[in-house]
Amino acid sequence: MDKIIRIALDGPSGSGKSTIAKRLSSKLNILYLDTGAMYRATALKAIALGIDTLDEKGVSTFIDDINLEIKYIDGTQHTFLDGEDVSERIREPHVSMAASNISSLKCVRLKMVDMQRKIASQMSCVLDGRDIGSYVLPNADYKFYITASTDVRADRRFKELTLKGHKVDFEELKQEIEQRDYNDKTRDFSPLKKAEDAIEIDTSYMNIEQVIGKVLSYIEK
Ligand code: DC
Repeated sequence: MDKIIRIALDGPSGSGKSTIAKRLSSKLNILYLDTGAMYRATALKAIALGIDTLDEKGVSTFIDDINLEIKYIDGTQHTFLDGEDVSERIREPHVSMAASNISSLKCVRLKMVDMQRKIASQMSCVLDGRDIGSYVLPNADYKFYITASTDVRADRRFKELTLKGHKVDFEELKQEIEQRDYNDKTRDFSPLKKAEDAIEIDTSYMNIEQVIGKVLSYIEK
């Protein structure tokens, strides 16, 4: 049997991780696990139950039994919550901050990390997130830390949301990105950080082909 390879892609919101992860997974024919989707679905559950996403006691009442499933349909990840495909709903702008909040809770992280490690133990995969190289898969074969300036990240998010028909204000979006960066980097338990042995790539002035080329140049070495 071929050796299982695991690739960790971490970095702040809008740095381009998910686009890179998708392209890498199809190029290398391995699984792509978007771990942010899991935190987003958990936030959706709290919202549905009317529980504050920062209320650890409230969230702990449902987290152990959360009915969250990751399925692959035609090679694309779909996130199911209580049997419903919520892949689109979790992308709505209000879910982003809720996901950032709920991801700071230890009970949530322990549950998600456990699920992520189980999935990653079964096959070759690329995982994107915030703590993959530093905490979820410290022994990943390749670790990348993807960054970009705040302006560039806000601009990418603006274009993405506008294309989907959302009405968004650039300055508000930028502030929200800064707030999420702050939340994700300063939480107590497994914050967003570059693993010591991760390769950092600043994608601010690179197009996707250049980034993929750079990532592959390390993997193919
Ligand atoms: O990558 P994303 O924007 O879909 O992630 C949503 C939120 O989930 C993000 O603000 C931080 C959190 N997250 C996390 O804490 N750890 C991960 N491995 C992935 C996401």
